[in-house]
Amino acid sequence: MQKNLVFPSILSADFANFEKDLELAKNAGADGVQIDAMDAHFVPNLTFGWSLVEALRKKTDLFLDAHLMIDNPLIWSKKFASAGADNVIFHIEACTNAKEAVQTIRSIKAAGAKASIAIKPKTPVSKIANLLEEDLFAVLVMTVEPGFGGQAFMENMMPKVSEVRKLINEKKLKTHVEVDGGIDIKTAQIAKKAGANILVAGSSLYKFRNPLEMGKAIRLMRK
Ligand code: DX5
Repeated sequence: MQKNLVFPSILSADFANFEKDLELAKNAGADGVQIDAMDAHFVPNLTFGWSLVEALRKKTDLFLDAHLMIDNPLIWSKKFASAGADNVIFHIEACTNAKEAVQTIRSIKAAGAKASIAIKPKTPVSKIANLLEEDLFAVLVMTVEPGFGGQAFMENMMPKVSEVRKLINEKKLKTHVEVDGGIDIKTAQIAKKAGANILVAGSSLYKFRNPLEMGKAIRLMRK
């Protein structure tokens, strides 16, 4: 039985004080943090690149979950891995074909990180089913259209979460099922019931500015 993990997303953190907000997440008992890289091409927003991972790696021992919402993941994902990300998640929609996706997975692992794949709301699970053989750390099912924090949870993504969970169980894999977008204490219960065990939450966690309140929310999400 996999443990439930909660990763606050720094997309909703204080961009002028990431070190402080990593400390906040750590003291709140987070299992890691998600770093949302966006390139203003794959998604209509621009955030940060691998150099932020490199800088934050020096400041924390938290698990760094790099979510790449970028084009050309084959080129860039290994940079995030060697910069110190523990897990590098890229989007299947950013790959030209399955072969490129496999190459990307293998290059992330060769650079020393775990590799994971993400699917946008309109992408069916069938697009990534064959990649489960590549021993992924996680499959990330987006529960919002990627690009921005603070959006509403898409409950109609739950059948996809259950479908991924079923495939993983049938193949007896250790792959996690991760959800990201509109996750709060309430929607976390819906996502876990559908089969998710890694919960990424930005606005619903970083609205708290002290470890006591953030920690309480994390525990309620995770239980
Ligand atoms: C979407 C981002 C967000 C972020 C979490 O592109 O990936 O989902 O991590 O945002 P909230 O939790 O505020 O929806």
